[in-house]
Amino acid sequence: MFGFGQLIDILKKSPKKIVFTEGTDPRILEAASRLLASNFLQPILVGDENEVTEAASECGFNIRGAEIVNPKTFDRFDEMVDLFCELRKSKGVTPEQARGILSQANYFGTMLVKMGLADALLGGATYSTADTVRPALQLIKTKPGNSIVSSCFILVRPSATGENAVLAMSDCAINIHPTEDELVEIAGETAECAKIFGIEPKIAFLSYSTLGSGKGEDVDKMRNAAAKAKAKYPDLPIEGEIQFDAAVAPRVARTKCPESEVAGYANTFIFPDINAGNIGYKIAQRLGNFDAYGPILLGLNAPINDLSRGCNASEVYSMAIITAALA
Ligand SMILES: CC(C)(COP(=O)(O)OP(=O)(O)OC[C@H]1O[C@@H](n2cnc3c(N)ncnc32)[C@H](O)[C@@H]1OP(=O)(O)O)[C@@H](O)C(=O)NCCC(=O)NCCS
Repeated sequence: MFGFGQLIDILKKSPKKIVFTEGTDPRILEAASRLLASNFLQPILVGDENEVTEAASECGFNIRGAEIVNPKTFDRFDEMVDLFCELRKSKGVTPEQARGILSQANYFGTMLVKMGLADALLGGATYSTADTVRPALQLIKTKPGNSIVSSCFILVRPSATGENAVLAMSDCAINIHPTEDELVEIAGETAECAKIFGIEPKIAFLSYSTLGSGKGEDVDKMRNAAAKAKAKYPDLPIEGEIQFDAAVAPRVARTKCPESEVAGYANTFIFPDINAGNIGYKIAQRLGNFDAYGPILLGLNAPINDLSRGCNASEVYSMAIITAALA
């Protein structure tokens, strides 16, 4: 069962460095001060040294020991510019353009990871998802063997008995209209991520139809994707297309798809598109009392994650641990 203790244990065995692109944000500074008080995750704050330290002292957070890196005075900036031009040479980026792009904290921080000066990155306290993720897509790229970067949310509902409900939901944040084959890849990546959080994945390809009860292109897409996923991952329990009630409620499952080993007990949900996924995880979070961790980016060559702009310091701290533990 998922607990932060396990992730912290991973980091204690192998301490990591994580870049925060918004070094003056009070929530980042609070999370950084908490991380500095332990010694398993070293924060690197991007920003002007004076501005970062002043912001921290104004908010009353002790960030002594944090590495603060300013793109304007970074001693390896020329080397970074050269590497950036090399990585983006198919786009014809000039050194002058690269200097401008790399003065932005989101691109600069991503290059720190690319250059091996940091293990992971967390941004998005003020940047949009697109502005946090785009540098990673362009510079860090997908893992070998993967065709897309996608994302999942881990949802945790604490229970009085200590048996927390833990679910995975994908792709709620990156791919707007995933194709059938992309859904198959998203399911495989999500299952791997779910296992890290103690979930034994039972995967539901969600739809407004259960095994042919409804008709339409979107139903066909989820049915075909589920069939392809079953063929590709024969060891994973997969059902689809399936409605959410049949996926999670054993009584409904007995009526709608009695033969299924997943129906009624699904814990890993693949949504047809980002509209459904983003709305779906937020319903679980806001009305179902689940804590939502994510989006956790999947299929990327290095661990980089995005915060919600509405996040609080405690969420920043949790996401930093999750991000670095995946490194
Ligand atoms: C992820 C996202 C930002 C990419 O958009 P974009 O930057 O406009 O995408 P582009 O098509 O211009 O692609 C930019 C680069 O990323 C790559 N890319 C885009 N989507 C990708 C994906 N899913 N996986 C891997 N690479 C991807 C492109 O190949 C391109 O690479 P290149 O510059 O080396 O050729 C976009 O899909 C998006 O906005 N998703 C929704 C984000 C959101 O609002 N989420 C809800 C809030 S959580």
